[in-house]
Amino acid sequence: MTQLITRRSLLSGLGGGIVAGALPACARTGPQPANTPASKDGRALELRATSPFAKDFAWGVATSAYQIEGAASEDGRGPSVWDTFSKQPGATFEGQTGDVACDHYHRYREDVALIRSLGARAYRFSLSWSRVLPQGRGQVNEKGMDFYSRLVDELLHAGVTPYATLFHWDYPRALFEKGGWLDRDTADWFGEYAEVVVKRLGDRVLRWMTLNEPNIHILLGHVLGVHAPGLKLPPEKAFVAAHNCMRAHGKAVQAIRAAARPATHPEVGCAFAFAGYHPASSSSEDLAAAAELTFAATEGTLVRPAWWLDALLRGAYPADGLSAHAAHLPPQFERDLVEIHQPQDFLGLNLYWSEPVRRGTEGRPEPLGFPPGYPRAANDWQPIVPQTLYYGPRFAYGRYQLPLYITENGLSVRDQLFLDGSIHDAQRIDYLQRALVRLADAVREGVPVRGYFHWSLLDNFEWADAFKQRFGLVYVDFSSQRRVAKDSFAFYRDVIRTNGALALAPTTVAADVVSP
Ligand code: FCB
Repeated sequence: MTQLITRRSLLSGLGGGIVAGALPACARTGPQPANTPASKDGRALELRATSPFAKDFAWGVATSAYQIEGAASEDGRGPSVWDTFSKQPGATFEGQTGDVACDHYHRYREDVALIRSLGARAYRFSLSWSRVLPQGRGQVNEKGMDFYSRLVDELLHAGVTPYATLFHWDYPRALFEKGGWLDRDTADWFGEYAEVVVKRLGDRVLRWMTLNEPNIHILLGHVLGVHAPGLKLPPEKAFVAAHNCMRAHGKAVQAIRAAARPATHPEVGCAFAFAGYHPASSSSEDLAAAAELTFAATEGTLVRPAWWLDALLRGAYPADGLSAHAAHLPPQFERDLVEIHQPQDFLGLNLYWSEPVRRGTEGRPEPLGFPPGYPRAANDWQPIVPQTLYYGPRFAYGRYQLPLYITENGLSVRDQLFLDGSIHDAQRIDYLQRALVRLADAVREGVPVRGYFHWSLLDNFEWADAFKQRFGLVYVDFSSQRRVAKDSFAFYRDVIRTNGALALAPTTVAADVVSP
């Protein structure tokens, strides 16, 4: 007798229990009809789904240094802009800081053991620039470097592939005081740092990301002033900071390739916040309108994908953005574009949400926003939009033709420990399943997505929202540092074991909260 694993049975705990004990054999077996493993009571289970994910698909989890490490002034680490910003009155929720965060610096072995028990094949983490180089350049802090070396060894020992990000928003304070991203030399400083790191880890780390979400870093930290370093720059300066960020990326790509041993064939990319649009209906007009608006760069230019990715991947700023902002760029910016435009092996997309758009009456794309009461995550900025995982990769691949990783995707939920000692995060499980269903659609259509990194492994310091937002698959009690795997951890573990088939299993849930 066969039994269909349904969404309802998973949520009631039945499916989770059965699946957890039953599916090891079908891990890592590639695109194929999922197998029919036996349940605990000996009955066969049928996963009536076919996984389109490649057998070496990088199922992973992601974190970043300042959000989890703690040990802020230990073993010679220098301060970053987040250390000082988070201590300014009113800068973060309830004045919380990342001084201790998840204490990952001391508990990394326990955390790698969690990654291993999740069955994840890949782990995306970032290095703290000022832990490696306390002054941002010059003297290397060997103790700090040694931490990352031990972390990498621990991951490899656990059979987990490390994906390292060089910069995830924690810019060294010492270099900020010299001018930060506004100083042209910042590109060289970043290149030097990349060289230091790759010389020491490049024998074991083969996947590198230069910058994480430079567009969001510039917008929130340098224009709106709500993230570190808390600047509110006028456009002529903000565009220079963004331009220098891109130059730093270009230098780092070259430094990584020069410092790595050629035989290791390092792969280099960046992780980009691909804030886009999706069509409001299944009509081809709305589809074209969504693609058009996703790559428009006239308004909100500094966060628009085309402003950054056209420069990085095509060697030119998009014409529409340029016609509005050429005056804000440094003189002879065209010459810099040669160095900014480095060959990349992949493009990382951080995907959280997108906005519906239709072809308006005058032929222009018309963003529609969200109706009142539309479902949202615990944070205010993320409406529940699973189709972002389909349209984002499709549009990005259509324009840039690079293999993709989903370097971040996840959901903040108001998690709590229930009376039974568990964390029942049904909303996260539901979102994850919906998101993977749509990602699978993109893969089936031939979009080369090589991996998916769930944000995040652990609840952590969510920037200005501090510990209020919980994005983890693992709950962290920040007063005791106790880790408790949430229900979503078990769900994702089973997704990984079935190479995605579990997420694609027919569901008892009604149609999407949103269309199409
Ligand atoms: C992304 C950031 C990451 C985390 C998630 C929720 O924009 O890259 O550090 O804050 O959002």
